[in-house]
Amino acid sequence: MKLTLSVIKADIGSIGGHIRPSQALLDAVRTRIGAHRNNLLLDARVSATGDDIAILMTHRHGVGDPAVHKLAWDAFRGGTDVARRQGLYGAGQDLLKDAFSGNVRGMGPAVAEMEFEERPAEPFLFFAADKTDPGAFNLPLYLAFADPMNTPGLLLSPELSQGFRFVIMDVGHTEGDRVIELNAPEDLYRIAALLRDTERYVVESVWSRATGEQAAAACTTRLHNIAGKYTGKDDPVMLVRVQKNFPATGEVLAPYAIGALVAGGMRGSHNMPLMPVPLESGVSYFDGPPIVSCAAMCVHDGRLTEPEDAFAHPFWDRVRDQVAAKAVEIRRQGFFGAAMLPMAELEYTGVTAMLAELEPRFVLRAEKPSAPAVARAG
Ligand code: 13P
Ligand code: 13P
Ligand code: MG
Ligand code: MG
Repeated sequence: MKLTLSVIKADIGSIGGHIRPSQALLDAVRTRIGAHRNNLLLDARVSATGDDIAILMTHRHGVGDPAVHKLAWDAFRGGTDVARRQGLYGAGQDLLKDAFSGNVRGMGPAVAEMEFEERPAEPFLFFAADKTDPGAFNLPLYLAFADPMNTPGLLLSPELSQGFRFVIMDVGHTEGDRVIELNAPEDLYRIAALLRDTERYVVESVWSRATGEQAAAACTTRLHNIAGKYTGKDDPVMLVRVQKNFPATGEVLAPYAIGALVAGGMRGSHNMPLMPVPLESGVSYFDGPPIVSCAAMCVHDGRLTEPEDAFAHPFWDRVRDQVAAKAVEIRRQGFFGAAMLPMAELEYTGVTAMLAELEPRFVLRAEKPSAPAVARAG
């Protein structure tokens, strides 16, 4: 019988700004989910990354199951009441709709789910990132599943060397799911051409071409497409199955040593390097830097093991130092150029009002330049 792994995540309030949820808030969500273990769910784990709460669930009901989604939605709704009672900042921030309509997709929370036949040993990685958006996973997924410079398994394993299929979504298309399937390695340049545009094209899933099995599922939610304005960043979650027919754990983790610049940081409006952090980390410097955590687990008959904290290892201390230096470096140029996101992303913020106000003050200069008004007066 197939197993479904579902992770549903939302920001429903946090202490001290957009830093991290309170213990009472986490407990409130945990209690609501815990009540359904052994009933609707086989197992579950509630965790926080930055100011976001993720509910990881195992069950037999397939992806997009209304009862599973409603359980998560109700847990977040209940948690929001606790956030309000505690006066937490941004209480209910990601719950953008009032009435639940069968699926949390398009309602604010981020979702990543996959259904598969459990292998005898089923190791997988659960990634959660804060102060960034789903495009942050484009580069790590490309490197892990398509680049032999990162993943020697593509050369060394007969299964991996048959390549992987990428399903990529156009997240700028709001009228429905606009997707394309491309095969690595034949379509490598085409995959790269799309994935370089992290605000428009996002990896939704990756599939083994040797077995047809799903390797990865990532969320594709863009909150501003739902809300029509800036309501917080689309802090993404992702599930990646590892080993045997899939890349090894270390091959999937390796790309995070780059500290790639991603959209996120401060008001969702700045490019900042992505810092791999231990589980349950908050954010700090410049409401960031954008962070990513990874819980490595196994699942058997739907039961989850305890998580191994993949980025807590001492190796990542040096990476964190380098990312901190890179963060300070790009912040030195403030709002200028590449430090701030392009206007198309900022259109959802208040800067639009300022530009609209300036619009009538622009003048078309007459052919013969005349002195500015101040110079004439003085
Ligand atoms: P195992 O032989 O334990 O599967 O490990 C191989 C591997 O992938 C290590 O990178
Ligand atoms: P979150 O999306 O994590 O709530 O961050 C909002 C923000 O603007 C921080 O500066
Ligand atoms: Mg927040
Ligand atoms: Mg967040």
